[in-house]
Order: sequence, then structure tokens, then C-alpha cells
Amino acid sequence: MQNARRNLHPNAFLIELRRYCDPNGVPKMDDDNSILEQIKKLLQESHQRQLAAQYRDFRQMEALLSLHSAIDFRSVLPPTRVWSVSPDFAVILVEVIQDHRPKTIVDLGGGFTAIVAGYCVEKFGDGTVIAVDHQREFADATRRSINRHDLDSVVRIRHALLTPVTIDHTNWDWYDLATFNDVHDIDLLIVDGPAQHGSNREMVRFPALPLLMSKLSPGAHILVDDANRDHEQRIIDRWMKEFPIRLVNRFLTEKGMVVLQYDGQHAQ
Ligand SMILES: C[S@@+](CC[C@H](N)C(=O)[O-])C[C@H]1O[C@@H](n2cnc3c(N)ncnc32)[C@H](O)[C@@H]1O
Repeated sequence: MQNARRNLHPNAFLIELRRYCDPNGVPKMDDDNSILEQIKKLLQESHQRQLAAQYRDFRQMEALLSLHSAIDFRSVLPPTRVWSVSPDFAVILVEVIQDHRPKTIVDLGGGFTAIVAGYCVEKFGDGTVIAVDHQREFADATRRSINRHDLDSVVRIRHALLTPVTIDHTNWDWYDLATFNDVHDIDLLIVDGPAQHGSNREMVRFPALPLLMSKLSPGAHILVDDANRDHEQRIIDRWMKEFPIRLVNRFLTEKGMVVLQYDGQHAQ
């Protein structure tokens, strides 16, 4: 994260160069490396970082254009990346919904994903999106967006407080399970919440599968965002060891994305 921030800083090169100067800005010389060599190395690194950032940005612009070609959005969209999924995740979300036509979609950490899923459900068949957010402020913002896009008949936004829950003798905080009382036969589960950033707990999204597995339909797909992150990698490893799920695909999206499929039976 620190690297990402430094890469994006317009004065990154000057900031780097300061490391080689004393507090008065006078270059520190060392025996092995002349200041010119250090500058050359910094310039090369800076150039490489610029190229990498250009490539990443181009991929996201391409994905955004692709989304706009698949969906006729009826209003403005909230920002992507940072707290939201990146456009490349949303493109794969569209593909999964178009290919598998899920009827019941649960979106953990709704927002941009709920809007895209809502349009797909409307376009590719009937179904419902239930988008859950633990912060009222963000649940309300998503509800307003859904209303602006005239998707209220297909997307339901639910505010669910994070509530203590015990799974195999371990305590977690996860969405209040009462939120899902009337939810069953989930065909597509999007795991992009609760927010890991700012939490002092590990693997905050782990409970999604143990707690919702009995509500999945056989063959249900599970999309995991932020799969490049250590917490999500450990969650996916544990899920695959402990539950009847298989890896369908791992995508090199900006934040990493994993598609899993539930291989278990229908809940009795
Ligand atoms: C990772 S976001 C995912 C949102 C959604 N899937 C999307 O693509 O827009 C999950 C959680 O982050 C929190 N969140 C969203 N925007 C935020 C912000 N600007 N500041 C702090 N938390 C935020 C919300 O509570 C949300 O449930």
C-alpha cells in the first residue's frame, strides 16, 4: 500500500532523491556510488513505475469502456477502485452473470458491484440482488444510487451490523445473520465486505462461507475480490481445505480475483 501511494505521487522522483541529500539538500556522496549513478538508477526506477502505472490505468480504462458497451447505465456511477472494486472485477462479474444466469445474488459489501449486478439481472433474466453493508452511511448511499438507476425492483439494500459470532471455537464479527433469514438458494455470492482496511482483526471475510454455505445452491459461484491480499489468500486456502468448494479461476485483476464454485449438496 505504501509502495502504491509512493508510485502515484507526482513528485515521487524528488522525494526519492531527498534520501540521498543531507537536511540542507546537499547531495551525500559515498565511496562506492557517485551521485550521478544514484540519479540514473532513480530515473530508471521512476520510469519503470510510470510504465507500470500507465499499463494498470489503461487496463482499467479498457475494462470501463467494456462495461459501458455491455450495460446502458441510466445514471452516474460511483467511483471505482480504492474502496470499490476495480472495473476489471466488474467486467468478470458481468461475464459470470451472463454465462450462468444466477437468480439469487448476494453481494457482501454492496456498492458499485450491486449496481452492475442489478443491471445484469435486469438484462439477462429474472433474479434478485441482495446487497449488504455494515455501515448505514454506505448502505444509504448505495440505496440512493440504486434508486437513481431505477433498479429498486431487482436490488435490495440491507444494512446489517457486524455482530459477534463463534465458528469452531473462534470468535468473529460478521454481518448479523438475521439479515439472511429469508435468503436461500444463493446462486452467486460476491465477497467484497466487510471492509478489512481499518479493522484490527484478521481475515474479516472468512465467516462468509461457513455461515452462508447452507444457503448456497449446488454449483453456486463465489467471487472473491482483493485476492492479492494476504488476508484473502489465507481465507481462500482455508475455505478450500475445509469446505466443498473448488477453484474455477484466478484472475490477474488489479486487486486479484478468484472465482470458486460450491460442489456441495442442497441444504436439507
Ligand atoms: C470494500 S467495500 C466494497 C464495496 C462494493 N463491493 C463496491 O464495489 O463498491 C466494502 C465496505 O467498505 C466500506 N466503505 C466503502 N466506501 C468507504 C469509504 N469511502 N470509507 C470507508 N469505508 C468505506 C463499506 O462499509 C463497505 O461495506
